[in-house]
Amino acid sequence: MCDIYKKLISARDYVRGKVNFIPEIAIVLGSGLGGLADEIECVGSVQYSDIPAFPVSTVAGHKGRFVFGHLEGVPVVAMQGRVHFYEGYDIHDVVAPVRIMGLLGAKKLILTNAAGGINQGFAQGALMMITDHISSLVLSPLTGRNIDELGVRFPDMSEVYSKRFRDAVRACAEKLSIDIKEGVYIQTSGPNYETPAEIRAYERMGADAVGMSTAVEAMAARHMGMELCGISCITNMAAGLSPRPLTHEEVKETADRVSRDFKALVRAIVSEISKIG
Ligand code: HPA
Repeated sequence: MCDIYKKLISARDYVRGKVNFIPEIAIVLGSGLGGLADEIECVGSVQYSDIPAFPVSTVAGHKGRFVFGHLEGVPVVAMQGRVHFYEGYDIHDVVAPVRIMGLLGAKKLILTNAAGGINQGFAQGALMMITDHISSLVLSPLTGRNIDELGVRFPDMSEVYSKRFRDAVRACAEKLSIDIKEGVYIQTSGPNYETPAEIRAYERMGADAVGMSTAVEAMAARHMGMELCGISCITNMAAGLSPRPLTHEEVKETADRVSRDFKALVRAIVSEISKIG
């Protein structure tokens, strides 16, 4: 058993010792969506900082805990606050929380984030369903010795964002009259926003939105066989596409502004994908 797997198992056992609950769906709450954790009928929560050898989020405004309970009657675990590569963590630590949620029993995953819009058909405040991602700019979380207990050495990534979950997301958005966009997400390492030249390059590579998370989590989840979908909140138009310089304040403001729709959509997705066997 390799060291990373041993650490994951001891973290899993610690969390299970605190809250004995088997989640069906795991949710990663991105910027502006943290409030959804308060809507969970909570049966317990565990602070990341209490978990032995667990990476802890340092970004101001990011809470760091797992929240367990029921949402739409479905047993879920939510990550209120995630771990970012730009905080200086090892890429294996960045994906540890997602892997732990998988090891706790969640076979389905909903990833959410804030992202900059590259596709000029998008407007600030739009929601985008992630159809696929480009993660080649960041180190794969699957580098190093393969964790055979989780998955194969060379995992297929031809359908990271499950087709049947994408169909469910579309149906939920329609039911809620939310005009959801669709597109490819590209992950950068951050923490700086991009240059306009980088954004032009990413556009030519086929990206519709850019952010500093998610793709590595999606890869780790697929590696271990979780089925997933992802939603981005387009909090700003990417560098060079708006007359103003980018700020974290603008990102937070937009995320807060659309959080009602975002929360309603994620609740509907939880309900819908729980019915998919
Ligand atoms: N770039 C990278 N990450 C982001 C952005 C952006 O423009 N907006 C929100 N997260």
